[in-house]
Amino acid sequence: MSLLFTPYPLGNISLKNRVVMPPMCMYKAEEDGCVTLFHETHYGARAIGGVGLIIVEATAVEPRGRITDNDLGLWNDAQIEGHQKLVKIVHELGATMAIQLAHAGRKSICKSSIPVAPSPLLFSDTGGFKTPIALCNMEIEEIIIAFVEAAKRAHKAGYDVLELHGAHGYLLGEFLSPLTNVRTDRYGGSLENRCKLLIKVCEAILTAVPLPLIVRLSADEWMEGGWNINDSLYLSQKLHDIGVSMMHVSAGGNHAKQTLIPPLVPSYQTDYARSIKEKSAIPTIAVGLITTQEQGETLLKEGVCDLVAYGRELLRSPNMVQFFMKESGDKTSIEPAYARAF
Ligand SMILES: Cc1cc2nc3c(=O)[nH]c(=O)nc-3n(C[C@H](O)[C@H](O)[C@H](O)COP(=O)(O)O)c2cc1C
Repeated sequence: MSLLFTPYPLGNISLKNRVVMPPMCMYKAEEDGCVTLFHETHYGARAIGGVGLIIVEATAVEPRGRITDNDLGLWNDAQIEGHQKLVKIVHELGATMAIQLAHAGRKSICKSSIPVAPSPLLFSDTGGFKTPIALCNMEIEEIIIAFVEAAKRAHKAGYDVLELHGAHGYLLGEFLSPLTNVRTDRYGGSLENRCKLLIKVCEAILTAVPLPLIVRLSADEWMEGGWNINDSLYLSQKLHDIGVSMMHVSAGGNHAKQTLIPPLVPSYQTDYARSIKEKSAIPTIAVGLITTQEQGETLLKEGVCDLVAYGRELLRSPNMVQFFMKESGDKTSIEPAYARAF
């Protein structure tokens, strides 16, 4: 029996299988941040293809929190309707729907805004980045509210699950690192202080919205003296204690010139997911250069993770899951309209 195709309980929801489409920005929105035909078709195709949990790409909680001017948003009520239609389409096609709520921090390259960050440190002098403004405590409170309001809108739109983007050097991830957060107030300095913003955002969302919450984290920032797996274990335990359902374990992205990147071999990041699952006792999603059924199956069998995310493989091959089903000899769940093709 293939573990990849067994259901998984997430809060009150049952995922039909363990295959996740991780969030991947498509930069296909107009400046209004609304869902377009592209998003409906793109996510609809992966739902027909058999993915269990689709996590919609990084969706900004305020305009200056977009990575680019073409990101999706949930910073105002007018954006809810498009998400509602998108969720309805994907639900009808059989997948569970999550959305990644995000703030780009200093990695925003939007034309009309100045980025904000824990500290005024430029990400890179190439690529259109600007030196960010350091947030004051009042603005930090406003950002917590922006996350909560976006989470409520996601709930109204019908999403089943929320994911918070704490990875890849975007705002919440920047706060975690001693290299990008050099504040001397209650949000900087000690590990406990640097984790405070992300934890506060989670607590506020969990109080306001009755949906399972996943947190995406870069388990290691691949820099001397930077955020590392021990810090991630500390944070994951804290998040588990306050009711976060699952950690989605990625790595890197906080620096333009990372010096300790490991060899990029298949499943290269999955040991981080294993450590977090084992030591912080919170379920995990593994991600990163996982492309085959066998790799996913092995990760589940070895207890590395509870769910397996396939990113670029699903961009290449929307019907990946159905190929996997054919390989495993279990063709009963293949979309009947496509059955003659497998
Ligand atoms: C086109 C593209 C867009 C991405 N956008 C996001 C994003 O919105 N949020 C995020 O957390 N990660 C994002 N990522 C990272 C992926 O979710 C994933 O972690 C990464 O591609 C590694 O997995 P893979 O080797 O299976 O592709 C993106 C990756 C790609 C290729």
